Amino acid sequence: MTGEDFTLPRSRAANERLHALVPGGAHTYAKGDDQYPEGLAPVISHGRGAHVWDVDGNRYVEYGSGLRSVSLGHAHPRVIEAVRRELDRGSNFVRPSVVELEAAERFLATVPTAEMVKFAKNGSDATTAAVRLARAATGRPRVAVCADHPFFSVDDWFIGTTPMSAGVPAATTELTLSFPYGDLAAAEELLTRYEDEVACLILEPAAHTEPPPGYLQGLRELADRHGCVLVFDEMITGFRWSEAGAQGLYGVVPDLSTFGKALGNGFAVAALAGRRALMERGGLRHPGDRVFLLSTTHGAETHALAAAMAVQTVYVEEGVTARLHALGERLASGVREAAAGMGVGDHVVVRGRASNLVFATLDGDGRPSQAYRTLFLRRLLAGGVLAPSFVVSGALDDADIEHTVEVVAEACAVYRKALDAGDPTPWLGGRPVQPVFRRLV
Ligand SMILES: Cc1ncc(COP(=O)(O)O)c(C=O)c1O
Repeated sequence: MTGEDFTLPRSRAANERLHALVPGGAHTYAKGDDQYPEGLAPVISHGRGAHVWDVDGNRYVEYGSGLRSVSLGHAHPRVIEAVRRELDRGSNFVRPSVVELEAAERFLATVPTAEMVKFAKNGSDATTAAVRLARAATGRPRVAVCADHPFFSVDDWFIGTTPMSAGVPAATTELTLSFPYGDLAAAEELLTRYEDEVACLILEPAAHTEPPPGYLQGLRELADRHGCVLVFDEMITGFRWSEAGAQGLYGVVPDLSTFGKALGNGFAVAALAGRRALMERGGLRHPGDRVFLLSTTHGAETHALAAAMAVQTVYVEEGVTARLHALGERLASGVREAAAGMGVGDHVVVRGRASNLVFATLDGDGRPSQAYRTLFLRRLLAGGVLAPSFVVSGALDDADIEHTVEVVAEACAVYRKALDAGDPTPWLGGRPVQPVFRRLV
């Protein structure tokens, strides 16, 4: 397949219908067809393991499955079996299910640095709950968010800071401050400038770069010194850095942490975890003002909690994070070799931890380019690789990695041609892909 003759007529029609009925044409902006080459945004029929099929009947090796939530692969048999068992026993009752107790015990055994946990459906609810708890515990209004991390919540305190802030009152956004990752002096300067005003520091413990030596420990000490709550958002790192979270791996214990995504392997389950003294403020054994902490109709749906328990069992018994790292390392070195072999090693650049790889597409001057990303994605799709990132799942096998690297090599050959021509436009097949966060369509 050259890429020129690759079309997706059924997906195209389904995307049209989706846009007519669902704002954004998808239920997460990060899945939008605006982030894919024009006419080449597959609508998925189903998935199994590391593969998905679109409504046109094409099969793809998939990366970043379920926005990084499906880390064991689609329809993982042990997870599905656990879910099925609960489905037959009812999923939501007027009182807590014993599954809630078992899931909490299981989670706290997996992430032993936390003392209490409360489950929810979405990561955003968990991070927003952490913010509310921090504000209640400190009596302070402001929140300090790490500026180098792309997403924390769908709620106003975070969305107000993005280019899509329409509908968020300025008074809310003014309470959210930001600090750069990896710079202790900057965090200290912020906490000093807003002394006694900052309720919490919230960040991913690591994202595309490893924490500089002493950084997380330094933040821990700063938070203690300035009396604010340290929140690690482990939505991504949680079940990709290690089973016990990045906090387990780096040995720095936050006051609160939030989990989701891979915790349920595609089933909707998130968690707020942390120190008992803080978490109890949302409980019935605390004498002070009560904090309304994660109380939702669907928060403890039994089959999602069963999925989470099964995921943790599989992770521990099968050494999943080690496997994710090994697969990612193989993929990264294959892609780097392919790119270098085609003379685009400085332009198609793989970055990040092996279990959470992303790629950058740089133009002739080394600047990030959406046009070159479009060219690259187009060639990957035509070759049967659906890869907005190179975030691996444990279901990939050697043949999948080999196939991906071959397709990347072919894409890189075209990339080289476009660089030589000095203009990728003839290879885009339409408008370039767009970033998620932009003020206007
Ligand atoms: C680091 C991080 N925190 C929070 C969230 C929000 O999670 P959810 O989409 O489940 O609400 C995301 C989602 O992408 C995320 O990547």
